[in-house]
Amino acid sequence: MLVLDIIYMDNAATTYPKPDSVYQAVDYFNRFLGANPGRGSNQQTLKAGSVLLEAREKLASLFNIGESSRIAFTLNITDALNIGLKGILRPGDHIITTSMEHNAVARPVFSLTKQGVEWTAVNCHPDGTLDPEDIGKAVKPNTKMICMLHASNLTGTIMPIAEVGKIAREHGIIFMIDTAQTAGVLPIDVEAHNIDILTFTGHKGLLGPQGTGGIYVRPGIDIKPLREGGTGSLSEYLEQPEVMPDLLESGTPNTPGIAGLLAGVQFIMDTGLDNIRKHEQKLMDMLITGLKEVPGIEMYGPLDVEKQTAVLAFNIEDMDCGDVALSLDYEYGIITRSGMHCAPLAHKTIGTLEKGACRLSPGYFTTEEEIEKVIKAIYEIAKR
Ligand SMILES: Cc1ncc(COP(=O)(O)O)c(C=O)c1O
Repeated sequence: MLVLDIIYMDNAATTYPKPDSVYQAVDYFNRFLGANPGRGSNQQTLKAGSVLLEAREKLASLFNIGESSRIAFTLNITDALNIGLKGILRPGDHIITTSMEHNAVARPVFSLTKQGVEWTAVNCHPDGTLDPEDIGKAVKPNTKMICMLHASNLTGTIMPIAEVGKIAREHGIIFMIDTAQTAGVLPIDVEAHNIDILTFTGHKGLLGPQGTGGIYVRPGIDIKPLREGGTGSLSEYLEQPEVMPDLLESGTPNTPGIAGLLAGVQFIMDTGLDNIRKHEQKLMDMLITGLKEVPGIEMYGPLDVEKQTAVLAFNIEDMDCGDVALSLDYEYGIITRSGMHCAPLAHKTIGTLEKGACRLSPGYFTTEEEIEKVIKAIYEIAKR
């Protein structure tokens, strides 16, 4: 595979590299299909439409969704979460989140509070873990939705979605999850976990290109679109179609991107979710064990590969995390992310709101040799 000569440790931001088949699928679509799906009935348009159809089917199978037409494609998960939150919540409704949410949830919810929506952000422990009973205790008569991430982008902490889903179902509350850090890495089953709305982004664990994502909405949930317009269906009417996915899918989709996403999901299915997870756990075990020997290091999160995804945040004594990331980048060719990670609530929870943190996130294509180099580089930086 032709890729950059770097050690890429920023897969929580976006996965790199992608499988070759993803690059090929995007290129193939652009060169040989190229048409606008659903707009007309010529052969090329139908072929482009079948890419969307097949991608919907694959994703439905990955998440155990019965009706694939209940999945609408979006720009990314931020777009999907905005649709789920603003399309459902109304003044007087109460929403429960955790204190580990990404701004993709926190900002739209905060803006909804200005319109009279009530918000409880249930506190998590300093390692990011959540006691599901605390969610149950926060339920009120007007609680309309529980929305939470499946794993933290800061600490990798895996959230107890099965337990929370059960609580939501018992109380008849809509349960929406942000799978940005887990889709393509951990098993997700909308039936077993009682998920009513599942949001995903295509460019992280699902190994697709940027500019792809989506939202699954369980039948029977009343949701209003944020965007209305051409859908290629029922074009004679001025009303937005009520049928999914058209209800939430106005405008030309990123079909080349979705062709790539389809190839990404196919790669995951061929490789096996289990094998992907096992590889990432092995790398994380090496990383946690190796970094424990670094003088002055403070690592955040559960530090247990069973309880977290392949994400590790750390600081070295009073060194600026930005300087650490710069040294890793310019001196060692190691790509990481430092600073606030779009999650101030999560930083507050783990105690790094002032100083931020440096984050390492290996991926399926990271090798053990690369992890050894990363540990050695951080050791050298800390020793200075
Ligand atoms: C937990 C979580 N939610 C939401 C997002 C937003 O993802 P996107 O930028 O693809 O919309 C991210 C991205 O880092 C994330 O980690």
